[in-house]
Amino acid sequence: MRAQVGIVGAGPAGLLLSHLLALRGVESVVVEARSRAYCEARQRAGVLEDGSVRLLRAAGLAGRLDRQGLEHGGIYLQFAGERHHIDFRALTGGRTVTIYAQTEVVKDLIAQRLAQGGAVHFDVTDTEVDRLESDKPVLRYTSSDGRRHEVVCDAIAGCDGFHGICRPAIPRHLLTVNEREYPYAWLGILADVPPSTDELIYAHHARGFALHSLRSLTVSRLYLQVDRDVSIESWPDERVWYELRTRFELPGSRWTLKEGPVLDKSVTPMRSFVSAPMRYGRLFLAGDAAHIVPPTGAKGLNLAIADVAMLAPALASLLRGDLGPARAYSAACLSRVWRATHFSWWMTTMLHRAPGADDMEAQLQLSQLRYVATSPAAATSLAENYTGYPELPI
Ligand code: FAD
Ligand code: DHB
Repeated sequence: MRAQVGIVGAGPAGLLLSHLLALRGVESVVVEARSRAYCEARQRAGVLEDGSVRLLRAAGLAGRLDRQGLEHGGIYLQFAGERHHIDFRALTGGRTVTIYAQTEVVKDLIAQRLAQGGAVHFDVTDTEVDRLESDKPVLRYTSSDGRRHEVVCDAIAGCDGFHGICRPAIPRHLLTVNEREYPYAWLGILADVPPSTDELIYAHHARGFALHSLRSLTVSRLYLQVDRDVSIESWPDERVWYELRTRFELPGSRWTLKEGPVLDKSVTPMRSFVSAPMRYGRLFLAGDAAHIVPPTGAKGLNLAIADVAMLAPALASLLRGDLGPARAYSAACLSRVWRATHFSWWMTTMLHRAPGADDMEAQLQLSQLRYVATSPAAATSLAENYTGYPELPI
């Protein structure tokens, strides 16, 4: 079989790349290890940057996003029993973020690709990439009916996430890998209850970080800092709600946390990881395959979108014989990746309580939080990073 571009992974990066290529007249084959139902149900991110929304809109993918997405003009930072609003609109000249779940982005992308006759193969096994140094790299996989396929491509995109097979296909000595694991994790719940807040609350607390997010006007998404090696069984629903109530409590105010049935519960480890370069021969990595950020700051999904916004035109140029943009791809992405890596690390270390942290550490965090809450200069830095920096050129 032949395809101009072989894409490994039907997460946001792989699916959006396939769509952006189709808009440029480039055909691709997407292979995915999981089922369609699994990809559409996997609970992950929920915040789209301004530029991500504009890109999805420009690509004709924002029908449901424009109807159901919730535009937020800021966040709350809570610490020392006070809740402060950071006003993105005022600080950044009108920029906002939009609450629209990754599950919905993925559903929209799958529906669009299939409606347009795009090749997306779910439930594949034994994916392999080969001959990456040649100008005819090869993608092999076994389809769900047990047949083995070999697709000869002009380029391959590794959009297969952190645990995929594409990054390990690059000779290790050619990669520079920077990695940091954090000594805590996030326990996330989806709850069938209207959110108790109009905008997200990021809370610093002596018992650990908590985040109040949402998925709609009737469904809340909440996160708690927990120990890294925690077992989910040790967090029954009552314990989760108790801890959320405690960490969001605002002494002296009438604010309360609404509680409801827990629809989903999972634990996410936290790590910063950047593997460079993001290209090897005709293999191009995008999204979590090349980099991971801790979730504080909601950058993971947005970085995946930004990568493929660069990769699609670069691959279209490559197919026309102009290799310049493909050669520039890695460096162009890594500049944004490192900005987001720093921002996510900064938000994470400012808001979480590290095991064994002393009062000095806590006072430094509180001083930084108070600075952000009271200085327009400091708040602007948070606001422009949170809404996306640099702005996507759309
Ligand atoms: P993925 O979404 O991981 O997609 C990769 C796809 O490749 C998957 O569908 C996978 O099944 C497939 N694949 C893997 N190996 C193969 C193979 N060998 N063959 C074929 N297919 C393969 N970000 C936030 O901003 N906020 C959050 O709250 C948040 N929570 C998260 C929770 C979890 C558990 C995880 C893992 C990530 C979370 N993230 C969050 C990060 C965000 O969801 C990711 O950055 C985003 O999914 C990246 O998209 P992607 O397409 O690069 O990778
Ligand atoms: C969500 C996740 C994040 O990591 C974050 O910083 C904000 C919101 C969410 O899933 O809604």
